[in-house]
Amino acid sequence: MPVSRELQLPSGDKIPTVGFGTWTVWQGGEGEIYRAVKEAIKVGYRHIDCAWVYKNQEEVGQAIKESIDEGAVKRDDLFVTTKVWDTAHRRDAVKENLKQSLVQLGLSYVNLLLVHYPVSFKDGDDPFPKDNDGNIIFAYHDIVDTWKGMEDCVDADLARNIGLSNFNHLQVQRIIDASRIRPSVIQLEINPLFSNSQLVEYCQKRNIHVTAYAPLGAPNRPWKTKDEPDLLEEPVVKQLASAKGKTPAQIVLRCLLQRGIIIIPKSSTPARIKENFELFDTELNDDEMKQMAALDRNLRVYIEPIAANHPEYPFNDF
Ligand SMILES: NC(=O)c1ccc[n+]([C@@H]2O[C@H](COP(=O)([O-])OP(=O)(O)OC[C@H]3O[C@@H](n4cnc5c(N)ncnc54)[C@H](OP(=O)(O)O)[C@@H]3O)[C@@H](O)[C@H]2O)c1
Repeated sequence: MPVSRELQLPSGDKIPTVGFGTWTVWQGGEGEIYRAVKEAIKVGYRHIDCAWVYKNQEEVGQAIKESIDEGAVKRDDLFVTTKVWDTAHRRDAVKENLKQSLVQLGLSYVNLLLVHYPVSFKDGDDPFPKDNDGNIIFAYHDIVDTWKGMEDCVDADLARNIGLSNFNHLQVQRIIDASRIRPSVIQLEINPLFSNSQLVEYCQKRNIHVTAYAPLGAPNRPWKTKDEPDLLEEPVVKQLASAKGKTPAQIVLRCLLQRGIIIIPKSSTPARIKENFELFDTELNDDEMKQMAALDRNLRVYIEPIAANHPEYPFNDF
């Protein structure tokens, strides 16, 4: 199946199908993401996935600025995404949160702004406000009102495109029904162990492009239990990799691209950054795609337990 390097958005913009993830909490270290993004741009990535809550947008911004100054890329050729965090869901807080991201990134606009989660936390600068018992203090903003704030950001030329992340199909439909500017992209956890097919198809049928986060199954997550399978060690993945002269990660990423899904793998390792970008010289046939589909274990790894009691907690439905 042929795979496009870019997908068209209703605004006329094009989103590169292979992007670069920038969230890292378990390794971290100052400068890690700065170095990774610089390397990614050098290798050819033009789509960079960021978020206010990742607390590293200054590093991303520094890497972008230096890459532009050195002539490695032009701003117009980059597709930068950021996300509005749960503590900024009041309509007028959305734009303020984006403005903070823009200052951190050193940009005057983002190509794509997403609502990070449908749940809202108490407004303010603390991303995880807690009560004396250590529980998150929720807020109860209407997601439609938050969406109006997203549309305001397009009107103000601060975001070229807007979309959602971690919304279930009922929440997606509520936004579609109430929107003046429709969501054009949704970012969801997707990989062969968690195919998320129902929601992917629901969104794709409604002309919402789907981006897979944790496309490799977040193999180094510190909360991984011994019982949970390691996607990159699955026999079928290794077998297809060796048959095609590719790596397990390349097989997994290629499989997602062939489902029409945008991918944003994260790596801080130069060889892997390059490897994860070299996906257009191989192909999985129908039978191989079926073998990959059979890996589905409905294994969600980002379950966001701190928000489980919120009425907008998304993961009790598809
Ligand atoms: N919207 C949301 O709620 C949400 C949630 C989670 C993530 N995201 C976004 O999605 C991006 C990707 O998700 P993720 O970082 O959780 O998971 P991921 O991309 O599935 O996995 C990243 C991990 O895989 C390792 N890795 C990368 N390439 C590899 C390769 N070729 N072979 C073996 N291991 C490899 C990396 O290690 P090294 O770095 O050591 O190479 C890193 O530890 C994030 O960075 C973030 O931008 C969004």
